[in-house]
Amino acid sequence: MDKPKVVLGVSGGIAAYKACELLRRLTESGHDVRVVPTASALNFVGAATWSALSGHPVSTEVWSDVHEVPHVRIGQHADLVVVAPATADMLAKAAHGLADDLLTNTLLTARCPVVFAPAMHTEMWEHPATQENVATLRRRGAVVVEPAVGRLTGVDTGKGRLPDPGEIFEVCRRVLARGAAEPDLAGRHVVVSAGGTREPLDPVRFLGNRSSGKQGYALARTAAARGARVTLIAANTGLADPAGVDVVQVGTAVQMREAVLKAAPDADAVVMAAAVADFRPQAYAAGKIKKKDGQEPEPIILVRNPDILAEISADRARPGQIVVGFAAETDDVLSNGRTKLARKGCDLLVVNEVGERKTFGSEENEAVVLGADGSETPVPHGPKEALAETVWDLVTHRLG
Ligand SMILES: Cc1cc2nc3c(=O)[nH]c(=O)nc-3n(C[C@H](O)[C@H](O)[C@H](O)COP(=O)(O)O)c2cc1C
Repeated sequence: MDKPKVVLGVSGGIAAYKACELLRRLTESGHDVRVVPTASALNFVGAATWSALSGHPVSTEVWSDVHEVPHVRIGQHADLVVVAPATADMLAKAAHGLADDLLTNTLLTARCPVVFAPAMHTEMWEHPATQENVATLRRRGAVVVEPAVGRLTGVDTGKGRLPDPGEIFEVCRRVLARGAAEPDLAGRHVVVSAGGTREPLDPVRFLGNRSSGKQGYALARTAAARGARVTLIAANTGLADPAGVDVVQVGTAVQMREAVLKAAPDADAVVMAAAVADFRPQAYAAGKIKKKDGQEPEPIILVRNPDILAEISADRARPGQIVVGFAAETDDVLSNGRTKLARKGCDLLVVNEVGERKTFGSEENEAVVLGADGSETPVPHGPKEALAETVWDLVTHRLG
């Protein structure tokens, strides 16, 4: 089989060097990559590097090898175009259809999925001109990955950093896997919770659970690859931030509730994949609880935590919002799931069987997605991202 053909556009940002790592990952995973830098990009990383790493000639303009009509052919033959980093200038040109070099021509001739990974100073990113250009590109079906927050050129810190190349690679892999399918969550905002809350007992101890957060992160990544703006509310996962996803870190169930209620008002869908503790210790000991000779330990009194899923299901932040819950059951999985779906009032409930060696921390999952409309969608044993794709299929169907 032919290798999938990827065009890696590189525009003139300081993060151009990170595209070398993205190129490596793409070639090493069996993609045929043609690098198309802009003239400005070559001020940061030279043509020799791109050519040697990709195994293809490199040109920035339309006047080389004219007999091969590269300004048309490169785009026409691509299975994916990814521009990383995408400068403010490149986003503006792409949004307005300018075609004054090889990369901008390629963007106009490509009929495959296009991913932009912008990187720039926060002021440039937040400028209404850039934001309107991004909105235009997303409306047309491009996947524009949200920049990360962190150190920028010089001493500045803020939003605008190129996400980790490994994470951009993950977005490319998922977009390629979807092929010509439309990014059906484009223009949508989705909120996903992940991980397990921890309820502190004293400064060193907590009541927690075994959730790794991997299923929630798979949901966030797949939603981003399908074009959604994603807010991921993560509790104690220790996982790398997925590219293009706004990550809010929380610790306890009460903090999780606050973060979900803050993000939900403009969300089209809220997917609660996190394992939120049902109970928390009534009292928090300001100092470490000590053993006392000859004395039994004090009992720990638990109080109920807020039921976030029931609350957001009953009180939809916007009309038509879809709410999805997860039920981790150890026995009577389906009948407990049906009862929980009715009690919580959500639209979909993903029911899976959990145990010490099942689901938690694993890369794979197996579940049945129950619908409030009586539907049952079994998802066979497989990668957590396959379950995530099914959840988004069911959500997009309900969003219309
Ligand atoms: C040192 C330096 C770093 C730059 N970094 C960025 C950047 O990260 N993002 C950006 O949008 N522009 C950046 N610029 C500005 C672009 O290089 C400039 O807008 C250029 O015209 C972009 O051309 P291109 O989009 O054709 O590559 C930088 C310029 C310099 C001199």
